[in-house]
Amino acid sequence: MFVNRSRVKGFYQLSINERLELATHGRGLTEEEKSLLSGKQPFPMETADAMVENVIGQFSIPLGVASNFKVNGKDVFIPMATEEPSVIAAASNAARAAYDLGGFHTSTSGTIMRGQVQVLDCIDPFAARSRILENKEEIMNRCNEKDPTLVQLGGGVKDLEVHLVNTRKETIVVIHLLVDTKDAMGANAVNTMAEYVSPLIEKITGGRVVLRIISNLADKRLARARGVFDAQALGGVEIVKNIVSAFEFADADPYRAATHNKGVMNGISSVVLATGNDTRAVEAGAHAYAARSGSYRSLTTWEMNEDGNLVGTIELPMAVGIIGGATKTHPVAKACLKILGITTSDELAGIIAAVGLAENAASLRALSSEGIQAGHMRLHAKNLAVMAGAAHSDIDRVVQQAVEEKDVRYDRILQIVQEIQGEDL
Ligand code: MEV
Repeated sequence: MFVNRSRVKGFYQLSINERLELATHGRGLTEEEKSLLSGKQPFPMETADAMVENVIGQFSIPLGVASNFKVNGKDVFIPMATEEPSVIAAASNAARAAYDLGGFHTSTSGTIMRGQVQVLDCIDPFAARSRILENKEEIMNRCNEKDPTLVQLGGGVKDLEVHLVNTRKETIVVIHLLVDTKDAMGANAVNTMAEYVSPLIEKITGGRVVLRIISNLADKRLARARGVFDAQALGGVEIVKNIVSAFEFADADPYRAATHNKGVMNGISSVVLATGNDTRAVEAGAHAYAARSGSYRSLTTWEMNEDGNLVGTIELPMAVGIIGGATKTHPVAKACLKILGITTSDELAGIIAAVGLAENAASLRALSSEGIQAGHMRLHAKNLAVMAGAAHSDIDRVVQQAVEEKDVRYDRILQIVQEIQGEDL
């Protein structure tokens, strides 16, 4: 039964426990962690109370794993936390179409985050820029003093830029601290440094520092993924051509691009959430990056190769960490990181980019052929069956019948559930 492969035929048909065993196999999870994942052991209220304010309870979201992913030659089950039906199935199906053609290949541009320091009331912004650059070493050393641990790990401020930004009223000086935050997402380290170095910046510029904060447009922390998807598995060369046209549509039309990228983020945000990372930071970065040319465009590209197969790429900022914040305080996030079997934030970033690419492939395939409603119906029926009070063991039967009857409505599903419950009496 146990295989160290993510390509498991009929994975979705296994029991919850069988899936849990497969996804965690060989990853060193403790029984306690497995029990937390399965929901058998409650998430401690004290942990919740220490994470955010005014706690009154907890809010659960289903956690699944995407199967069929091979990333940089390694098979991996990918934890995804989402309330949206079809998202995990879609990623798994698209990954299956890429599996035999090598899966996904990823790269990252490094782990540099930008911290911005806004300087107002500078009477000589151009000269202030020069003075900042003349004193670059001193500013960088001052920042690095504040985080010796990060510096010891090879991180810290690596460079500095000065931007002159023309606002409605004036030209303001904005200093960018380029901080290598290594395996942390880095908001805390960057914000602390930006605040700490501000008095020195005021002295050098003669201006008044106001905002000191990380930028979520993490364009020096990009993740990329590439994959080739088998045309036959997608439904044929015509569908591949339609997918390429769908990309061209999104790349040229912001109305479509917003939905196209929303589909990408369905996959990305689910993994970001499951690993305890900041979904809003990644989303803000993704959308800002999609608009970097001045118009809002596709985060992915799609082409057809000489074999008629579909070739996809994705590139976007990926500010995720594997240390610090909820990645370390949330016990389920910690267990999810273990399932991934990764050791660096770069590896996590690449895997997340691969999921975004797969998710987009799946959406475009469905949209370019039968439409997305057909795939949604089965899961919709499952949701309705649960709402109608179907016993766990009856759900598949209820869904099958409703889908065969092409009547996925609550009132009909309730009837089916009641009929089955009647049989059991
Ligand atoms: C739905 O959550 C996502 C899609 O709308 C994405 C797309 O249109 O590409 C299906």
